[in-house]
Amino acid sequence: MSCPHCRGAEKVFDKGVASGDLDAYRAKGPSRQTRLLLEAIRHWGAEGRTLLDIGGGVGAIQHELLAVGAAAAVHVDASTAYLGASQEEAARRGHRERVQYVHGDFVEVADGIAAADIVTLDRVVCCYPDMPALVGASSARARQLYGLVYPRDGWWMRLAGKVFNLYFRVQRNPFRIFVHSSSAVDAVVRANGLREIYRERRGLWQVALYTRS
Ligand SMILES: C[S@@+](CC[C@H](N)C(=O)[O-])C[C@H]1O[C@@H](n2cnc3c(N)ncnc32)[C@H](O)[C@@H]1O
Repeated sequence: MSCPHCRGAEKVFDKGVASGDLDAYRAKGPSRQTRLLLEAIRHWGAEGRTLLDIGGGVGAIQHELLAVGAAAAVHVDASTAYLGASQEEAARRGHRERVQYVHGDFVEVADGIAAADIVTLDRVVCCYPDMPALVGASSARARQLYGLVYPRDGWWMRLAGKVFNLYFRVQRNPFRIFVHSSSAVDAVVRANGLREIYRERRGLWQVALYTRS
């Protein structure tokens, strides 16, 4: 991976974090904002559909949608440890053979990734500096639904991002948090022919679902 932020993600989302997140997911299920996105996707239908889950972490979205009849999934992730945790859970649940795993920066590997019926990025856009490249390449691959969980762009969220980034700088880790403008994200998605069908703002996060017009 040539992107320094993605190499930083390997350090931030290491084996310890991945194993802790997998334990939390097994104990409590998906996080609140992920549940909102899953409910919206299920409302529009996941059965028989393919999923491209970018930065899927322990794979909560894949596991939940495959359990309700999604056909297959591709998980692209910059974190080797998260890919391992996601595979471990897929094997435990018996759907490992329906998931393909790709390690890398999605923007770098996108040309080799096929379009899918549903594309999701749950808390991923805030890990990447070049939002138009990430959102542009991913939304272009959504045949039916495109789901995002990303930070609300209030001043308080930008301040929190600065505090976290100071910590990463002190740790000499190139990973950074980015609070991209909501209207700029929305404009990139719409430019790829998608229209918004759901938006919910909860705490630090906003959850959005788009469909192809
Ligand atoms: C904050 S974690 C979120 C994990 C999971 N989606 C969740 O909500 O629990 C961010 C994830 O995005 C991945 N990621 C960040 N930038 C990426 C990129 N450009 N390509 C692929 N994965 C990326 C990280 O490796 C990590 O798995």
